[in-house]
Amino acid sequence: MSLPKDNKDSIPEPVKGLEGIVAADTSLSSVNGEKGILRYCGYNIDDLAFNTTFEEIVCLLYDTELPNHERLENMTERIGEARVLPKEIQKVITELAGKTSPMSTLRTVVSALGHYENNVPLSELPPKALRLVGQIATAVAMIHRLREGLPLLEADPKRGHAEDFLRMLLGKEPSQTQIQALDLYLILLADHGFNASTFSARVTAGTLANLHSAITSAVGTLSGPLHGGANEKAMEMIIKVGKPGKASDYIENAFAKKQKIMGFGHRVYKVDDARKPHLKKMATQLWKERNDMTLYEVAEEIERQVKSRKPIITNVDFYSAPLLYGLEIPTDLFTPLFAMSRVAGWTAHVLEQYGNNRLIRPRARYVGPIDRTFRPIEQR
Ligand code: ACO
Repeated sequence: MSLPKDNKDSIPEPVKGLEGIVAADTSLSSVNGEKGILRYCGYNIDDLAFNTTFEEIVCLLYDTELPNHERLENMTERIGEARVLPKEIQKVITELAGKTSPMSTLRTVVSALGHYENNVPLSELPPKALRLVGQIATAVAMIHRLREGLPLLEADPKRGHAEDFLRMLLGKEPSQTQIQALDLYLILLADHGFNASTFSARVTAGTLANLHSAITSAVGTLSGPLHGGANEKAMEMIIKVGKPGKASDYIENAFAKKQKIMGFGHRVYKVDDARKPHLKKMATQLWKERNDMTLYEVAEEIERQVKSRKPIITNVDFYSAPLLYGLEIPTDLFTPLFAMSRVAGWTAHVLEQYGNNRLIRPRARYVGPIDRTFRPIEQR
């Protein structure tokens, strides 16, 4: 591309997609893409996956320490209380649910929740941030029940987050396997370095805009199919393929058309995503208990077919899809479920950004024409 001379001389080559750029320090999580290791505050996700609850992970991200019993009880209670939404929010959801996508409703709900929170100094902000962790779960359950015309179920603050969400969403008592599966999902997706939605939350917080503005930015960013929206698209593909025997033709055709296969590829991982084996293991167990493994087997076959054609990694969204579908969660709620987990990381990152802030403001390289002759509107 030929550039205006003065620009070419003074501005360095941009890094497209900011690939490899280290934008700030964080103490929350680290991703080793070469080895496929994800750590929260120094703890390997492999140790946390089946041995903690989502509430413990929220403690870890907020305190950078794993909790003792007392801290965990306190955290569970506070998230539980936060699941009781302000009555006015129900009106917002009633107005939108079913008329727009659940992610779009959720983005508006997060923004609306900001009206019920006063701006407070940083030292008083963590409890407000934490409220969003509880509130988003109830909002997602409400969005679904209201659009389906189903009666709403009150939050039960005494229950664990995963259990209470499933009860509020599905209107029945979840099994232990279902609770464990959702808890695992929430644990594994809670934070992941400077992924796109977290970064957008930090950019917004970096202007000293308030917490709810930052989380609204994050929800919007997560919704795209190249980020959180990929789980829904992956499940749609699995359903469309329908039988393991049809996966080969489907993938062959997709590659021929140069289509991206949702749930594959990643900017950071060079080997399979650190979260994949845990999600896969849990999804297997869920589908075995359903006594019909067909769609799960389709997913496995798609993975085989993709990898036989291209050395491409399986990302978190691929096995999230059969896991969530196995929990009877409708596909258009998959990305809101992702938000329900990632809000833990988003809010922790926003607090970290406020705690050591500098405006995030990169530069752009101008590539348009310069020194153009101005003509008044009458002469154009
Ligand atoms: N299917 C087929 N080919 C792929 C895929 C895919 N899913 N992902 C990457 N590739 C190929 C590209 O076509 C490209 O090939 P080429 O060099 O021959 O042209 C190469 O791999 C590099 O791909 P980019 O898109 O340039 O990689 P980038 O780092 O910009 O994008 C991304 C990463 C967006 C995740 C990409 O892999 C993708 O679109 N995946 C599908 C969507 C998805 O699953 N997103 C969820 C990511 S995880 C998360 O956000 C929670």
